[in-house]
Amino acid sequence: MSDRLVIFDTTLRDGEQAPGIALSPDDKVAIAKQLARLRVDVIEAGFAASSPGDREAVRRIAAQVRGPVIASLARTVPDDIDRAADALAEAERYRIHVFTSTSPIHMEQMLRKTPEEVIASIREGVSRARSYVDDVEFSPQDATRSDPDFVVEACRVAVAAGATTINIPDTVGYAMPADFVALMERVYADVRGGNEDIIVSTHCHDDLGLAVANSLSAIHAGARQIEGAINGIGERAGNTSTEEIIMAIKTRQDYFNVEIQADTTEIFETSRLVSRLTGYPVQFNKAVVGRNAFAHESGIHQHGVLKNRETYEIMDPGDVGQESQLVLGKHSGRAAFADALDKLGVELDDVEFARAFDRFKELADRKGEIGETGLRAIIEVETGHPSDVVQLVGLHLSGGDRETPVATVRVTRGGEPFETTAEGDGMVNAAFVALQDAFGFPATLLDYRVNPFTSGADAMAEVNVIIQIGPATYSGRGISTDVVEGSARAFVSALNKALADRNGAATGAEA
Ligand code: KIV
Ligand code: ZN
Repeated sequence: MSDRLVIFDTTLRDGEQAPGIALSPDDKVAIAKQLARLRVDVIEAGFAASSPGDREAVRRIAAQVRGPVIASLARTVPDDIDRAADALAEAERYRIHVFTSTSPIHMEQMLRKTPEEVIASIREGVSRARSYVDDVEFSPQDATRSDPDFVVEACRVAVAAGATTINIPDTVGYAMPADFVALMERVYADVRGGNEDIIVSTHCHDDLGLAVANSLSAIHAGARQIEGAINGIGERAGNTSTEEIIMAIKTRQDYFNVEIQADTTEIFETSRLVSRLTGYPVQFNKAVVGRNAFAHESGIHQHGVLKNRETYEIMDPGDVGQESQLVLGKHSGRAAFADALDKLGVELDDVEFARAFDRFKELADRKGEIGETGLRAIIEVETGHPSDVVQLVGLHLSGGDRETPVATVRVTRGGEPFETTAEGDGMVNAAFVALQDAFGFPATLLDYRVNPFTSGADAMAEVNVIIQIGPATYSGRGISTDVVEGSARAFVSALNKALADRNGAATGAEA
């Protein structure tokens, strides 16, 4: 049995299938390059047949990213496979990942196919993929709610047609670790058997919070590939977290005894980049990459850690790329700011630097000191969308208590100043209504979150919003020492994404 565990990252395919996430091809290339620095083995770059935008992203990643194998998802239908092969053609090495469903509910309700028809489509789909490339993966979707005998039959047909990786998805996060291990053992024995060319893989969803546990338990049943997404993003409750798998394997080498090639020091940077570009905040207490993952609050813990870090830390923060705290204040100038960016390994162009520095000074004036977390947030939020068409330049609030709240927003639209005033049932709502007027189209607020990330009366807050316009959703993020202003900035960032889409649609560009 090989001791090498393949890390297959699907942040750009399954991860992106989360509400409110719409990565542009540029964003996807940036994430793929960072995943290559993290040295994952396989990057699933997208689902080439699903949209022109996805096809373009797969094509660009295949052409530009070197190191990992680049994969595209495809249904068993010929057109999907042809489009995947076409989009991947310029890759150094590529894989076509063919899937179809094997559970009764999916076959009857979604595919409207008999089991025999499903088996025939697997044979045809995998053979067609094999006509393009030797590296073909097959996944029986909803495997954990399928008849295990049928899963084995489907996977055997896939292997006979040329699949080299057999991936068992727990599509709806239904499996318990023991059931999952039993299914994986069955697949290992009856599909792989003694065939060392076949890699058995897992792909788990987190509906019951078991994705990482199920994936790791599968290693004992012979799995040598784990699929995951950075920060665990994905459909519903998300996917297995790639970074948690990597650090579990590294930290518990004694237990798993498998090798990985990942450069763990790139984990934190990868997590931040994915969070920034998707607009999905990382839960504070998230394992490995949460901002509290290496923070010690109680006196007893602090005392222990000061004596010896290992009293309460099983991982070295440096191993995942976490940095020591930096403190910058309102008296710091451009040189100190540039030095701090340098220490964080952040490179900005002149326009981004000027924008981030202005915002830093504005916030430092109000708040005093800005730590590393605040500094990173300023960089991420202020440099995230430099091409924003509408920029917030002022916000004035009045009313409140027993009077109707009123917000006046001043923006520039394509450089021209514009002002609108609106009433709302609270200050945040009034600002949102005024901004919709400024942009010239209505939106519905789907999700609104405020995360204070420094303490004290002048704490800074990060506001994350998801808005809906027609069938599309857009995320936005803003920071400020003032919650209403931070909210307005988050609305502006989300509304700008919607505006970019509308402008793209008006000029015939792809969404
Ligand atoms: O969850 C799932 O079943 C999938 C497959 C397409 C692999 O994402
Ligand atoms: Zn999935």
